[in-house]
Amino acid sequence: MEDWIDYYDSTHTIYASKHHRDVHFELIARDIAGYILSKDATVLDYACGEALSAGKIAESCAELILAEPAPKVRSRVAARFATNPKIIVHSLDELRDLPAGSIDLAVMNSVAQYMTQHQLEEALTMVKRLLKADGQLVVGDVLPPELGMMTDVLALLRLATKHGFLWDALLSLVKTALSDYRQLRATLGLQHYSAADMIAKLEAAGYRATRAKINIGHNQARMTFVAHRIG
Ligand SMILES: C[S@@+](CC[C@H](N)C(=O)[O-])C[C@H]1O[C@@H](n2cnc3c(N)ncnc32)[C@H](O)[C@@H]1O
Repeated sequence: MEDWIDYYDSTHTIYASKHHRDVHFELIARDIAGYILSKDATVLDYACGEALSAGKIAESCAELILAEPAPKVRSRVAARFATNPKIIVHSLDELRDLPAGSIDLAVMNSVAQYMTQHQLEEALTMVKRLLKADGQLVVGDVLPPELGMMTDVLALLRLATKHGFLWDALLSLVKTALSDYRQLRATLGLQHYSAADMIAKLEAAGYRATRAKINIGHNQARMTFVAHRIG
């Protein structure tokens, strides 16, 4: 396995169970929908993963573009939403062909940690071109520098307790500890950013940005940033 895209394209153990996956994507969809300002909006979910609840996001906007780099994930997403006229599925490369200034809201949730600094800079620049002048970019689930694996584990266990999948969560933690995830985390690592660093990165890419009060999803030790194009 060469990179995190390969990992997400594999049969991984990130979700403890089907129920965990459903809960995760419902939470994400609810939070993304909260950023949609108009029913006429065109929304981009950049590296959307399985996007199981994308149908709910699509109910709040005119068009939802789901972009995903992992080819098997992407074809499952395309098959899942083939009959939803509001949802379009693309690779990340295909986003370059979209018209400039066509997106009202772009969301990049739980992705920045898997990208190199250079990949993130390129993605921020590419998304900026796609955004309308008053469009916004939301970068969610960013790992702060001090965040260790134990904080993630505790956040998962709290979610599991609340939604009744504690046993599955405990089992999946053991599986994950023995899996490619742990090896990849040790070899490839994950990118962490302080709030100031992420805001500076967004500013360098041509946005003005602030940290949101609440992170997208269940893990409030991680951070979300809301950015608007400058010019
Ligand atoms: C934790 S999942 C997040 C999926 C979804 N956005 C969510 O919030 O559930 C990480 C996503 O990042 C994508 N990814 C991994 N490495 C990447 C990279 N270098 N560039 C772009 N996307 C990447 C994976 O394919 C996967 O869809």
